[in-house]
Amino acid sequence: MPHLLFEPAQRLWLLSTPSTSYAVRLDADDNVRHVHWGGALTPAQAGELAERTPAAGSSFDAAGGAEELAVEGGARFGPPSLQVRFADGTRGVEWRYAGHDADDGHLRIHLDDRHYPLRVTLHYRVHDDSDVIERWTTVENRDEQLPITVQRCDSAAWTLPHRTGYRVSHLVGGWNSEFQLRRAEVVTAETVFTSRRGMTSHHANPWLALDDGTAGEEHGEVWSTALAWSGSWRITLHRDPAGRTTWTGGHGHEGLTWSLAPGETLTTPVFAGVFTTGGFGAAGRAWHAYVRRHVLPEPGEPRPVLYNSWEATGFDVDEAGQTALAARAARLGVELFVVDDGWFGGRVSDHAGLGDWTPNPDRFPRGLRPLSAEVHRLGMRFGLWVEPEMVNPDSDLYRAHPDWVLHMAHRDRTEMRHQLVLNLARPDTAAWAHDWLDRLVDEHDIDFLKWDANRPFTEAGWPGHADPDRLWIEHTRSVYQIMDRLRANHPGLRIEACAGGGGRADLGILARTDQVWTSDNTDPVDRIAIQHGFSQLFPAQVMGAWVTDSPNVATARETPLRFRFHVAMAGALGIGGDLTTWSEDELKEAAELVATYKRIRPAVQYGTAYRLTGDGALTAVGYAHEDQFVVLAWCPSRPYGHEPAPLRLTALDPDSSYRDQDTGTVHSGAVLLRSGLPLPLPEGDHASALVQLIRIED
Ligand code: DGJ
Repeated sequence: MPHLLFEPAQRLWLLSTPSTSYAVRLDADDNVRHVHWGGALTPAQAGELAERTPAAGSSFDAAGGAEELAVEGGARFGPPSLQVRFADGTRGVEWRYAGHDADDGHLRIHLDDRHYPLRVTLHYRVHDDSDVIERWTTVENRDEQLPITVQRCDSAAWTLPHRTGYRVSHLVGGWNSEFQLRRAEVVTAETVFTSRRGMTSHHANPWLALDDGTAGEEHGEVWSTALAWSGSWRITLHRDPAGRTTWTGGHGHEGLTWSLAPGETLTTPVFAGVFTTGGFGAAGRAWHAYVRRHVLPEPGEPRPVLYNSWEATGFDVDEAGQTALAARAARLGVELFVVDDGWFGGRVSDHAGLGDWTPNPDRFPRGLRPLSAEVHRLGMRFGLWVEPEMVNPDSDLYRAHPDWVLHMAHRDRTEMRHQLVLNLARPDTAAWAHDWLDRLVDEHDIDFLKWDANRPFTEAGWPGHADPDRLWIEHTRSVYQIMDRLRANHPGLRIEACAGGGGRADLGILARTDQVWTSDNTDPVDRIAIQHGFSQLFPAQVMGAWVTDSPNVATARETPLRFRFHVAMAGALGIGGDLTTWSEDELKEAAELVATYKRIRPAVQYGTAYRLTGDGALTAVGYAHEDQFVVLAWCPSRPYGHEPAPLRLTALDPDSSYRDQDTGTVHSGAVLLRSGLPLPLPEGDHASALVQLIRIED
């Protein structure tokens, strides 16, 4: 079936993905209205649905059905997706259809204002191999002289079928507690999910999943959307008293304007959506597959086992200390050694030096090249921490360019972590950032950058600029451009996205990075919940997860090394402990566990993930890949000392047998599915198990 179909008689577009359909129609007033998002429909069925006139409104409530991008104007009272003001003060839009075109699964519906020179295009893109539909909007000022003020321009609005009992699943958190999954009834109100921080944020992630209250992990209808944007954003979920449920979202938070210059076009980020009948698990798997096939720059490359110095040394970074850590890391089988904060300028604490990106001469008298060479000699790749968007006021950079930071006349420059944000929307600041990064990578043979950003925007002004609010968008675009240029100039370079832990994890940053630093909280018990939330949208291969020291620096919790490894092995494994304090026994056990991870890495990093719920406090993840099914199970505590019941697996062939790679025990698929896998859990709290099952050819 073709991806895109247009029925001229009904002015109906039907988009098809492998197992879903999406339909919109043009009404008599040239408004593009939603018809269907859900299970597959034939053109005739979509046509039948399009013929249904939505319930007539009263004099207080206009009828007509939800719009794909609601504007202001006329009898519209819900949250607008597009708000513009023309130079003469007129607000709102009245549409005239201006045609459509399509190629390669990409549909463009063009709409003009009936009077003013405004062209809006609704973009839809579908793929052969994914049920994810990508949507975005472009707004063009076709005037030759006058600007148009854009007060809001969302990427898309999404609409659910009319039902009762909808729930919304979303991610909340903070520093050290990112990606907490919340599930709540959709209230009859406008509910705003947003970041006003200039970054995606730890506090809310631009991902939602809606279900009618009956979906579970492996069953039920789920509609899920995710915004591909790494700056401020806003999604407004609206359930009206008549039960209509829609949400509109895009970049920027409320109150920001963009002056669209004559001839200028504003393009929003992609707001992607997926529908599944397979519950939250299938929604997650659909996202994971989409991220691998259509977002990540290098999806097929195994993420290396990395070592990061942060928890071991903090800011106390020097050549001797890092060399000692590198030697131990190499013994463990680490493949990438990353030197974190503290290597440059006067950066001996978080008070000074940010912005002065040359090696600290006291700590690295010979520069960084000898360390980079030693790491490479040890057979590892060399990575370095950077924070290109930030500056300490106590730095040579700030003394030379105090005007380069976000600031406003007559306002304080609020410091957070003793730092300010550089305005990378400025071409000179962006050029400076690109140039030093490019040189740094070149001169030190750097294979990997951990790109951090440790504070949100405040006083986000741009004195002297006629349209200062645009920095909220241009800054993020500039970060993207610098990353894209660096990657183009250095094809071997890999980048980790970090913002004080997981403050910048989204589909936009993942289009130019390889993994995300999930959280500064490396406590394995807390991590189970963080990783559960993260996995709703992101695949395991991008989930940076370190094994650190016990007791944990954030929670003081003591846990066995094996438990810490088993939790971190569910993602892109890293080690972040102070290896100089690990005993020979611990180093030996760690080396064995790293080797085991490499054995299961294809399943974890390329496999299909199933979140498995066990008995009591037991949770687990299963990764199905080719003939393998790898289980990582965690049991932080054993209430009443009860032994957890066998863990029921999923996605196995009931007619096949599976051999446990470590014990040789053979299980029948049917038994694993129906009764479960008895887990080899050690006694006591913080117990964990790893089981690698291989399907046996009968
Ligand atoms: C925040 C990051 O999340 C940490 O891993 C570490 O890189 C520090 N910043 C360094 O300042």
